[in-house]
Amino acid sequence: MSRADNQPDWGALAEKFDLWAPHIAPVGDALLAVLDAQPGEHILDLASGTGEPALTLAKRQPLVKITGTDAADGMVQVAARKAREQPLDNLSFQTMAAEALSFPDDHFDRLSCRFGVMLFADPAMGLQQMYRVLKPGGRCVLAVWDTLEGMTGVHWTQQVFKNRIPESEQPAVDKIVSMSGGVLEKLLAQAGFVGIETQLKRFEYQFPDFAAYWQNCVDSAIMKQQLDALKTGQLDEVRNAFAELAAPYQTNDGLVIPHEYRLAIALK
Ligand SMILES: C[S@@+](CC[C@H](N)C(=O)[O-])C[C@H]1O[C@@H](n2cnc3c(N)ncnc32)[C@H](O)[C@@H]1O
Repeated sequence: MSRADNQPDWGALAEKFDLWAPHIAPVGDALLAVLDAQPGEHILDLASGTGEPALTLAKRQPLVKITGTDAADGMVQVAARKAREQPLDNLSFQTMAAEALSFPDDHFDRLSCRFGVMLFADPAMGLQQMYRVLKPGGRCVLAVWDTLEGMTGVHWTQQVFKNRIPESEQPAVDKIVSMSGGVLEKLLAQAGFVGIETQLKRFEYQFPDFAAYWQNCVDSAIMKQQLDALKTGQLDEVRNAFAELAAPYQTNDGLVIPHEYRLAIALK
């Protein structure tokens, strides 16, 4: 396995992924605002994971039809269950890799994808497929992680594990930041998109204190591979290293961790 493959096992952690949902909700709101879906339109939300931002859009706009897709079947099962429980009948989910979309050409009015493109096995191919299934004039809206320094939690992970676990177990940081430095804009243009606009945006993870943040990291299994690679007795040392990096972000209102991402709009 190469380091690029060291993404969390999305299917396996599907039941726990929503522990992060409240923290990344502002990104979904920003994305849906620029998506600007209209009644009667059909939207494709790619790499929906446990269903966002598709579920929020379906709830807010019952006259919009939404299809959500994700490569990990475990994620899709959770998303589909959430849609059934609401219940929402303007939304359905399918297990499907972005690089192999089975929809016809020129099919969807708009596309959305929150924190998916940089994780695709082949982002160029994924974006080409997205362009293919979008109707002429349609809008594609993406949120991707940008620089490592701007993705504070991942930056801590990279710093803490760098000299503590084998290279083969390191998190896939290169992949996570792979759309920064103009790469996303270049790949969108190569896929055929026009009117490409991107902007750097900020939001914050908010926890009562470091203990709550650490518990979320452990409970969500987001660093499972790295924590499993530690030697016996190393866990406390690692927790302390994270606590030290987090300390400057402790405020009177709790632990406030700033994050940056890039919001992109592109047209076909
Ligand atoms: C960080 S999660 C984001 C999930 C959701 N969009 C959200 O923001 O809550 C990334 C998702 O990308 C999915 N993913 C990774 N590679 C993919 C690919 N090639 N095609 C489709 N989905 C993929 C993973 O299975 C995972 O559910």
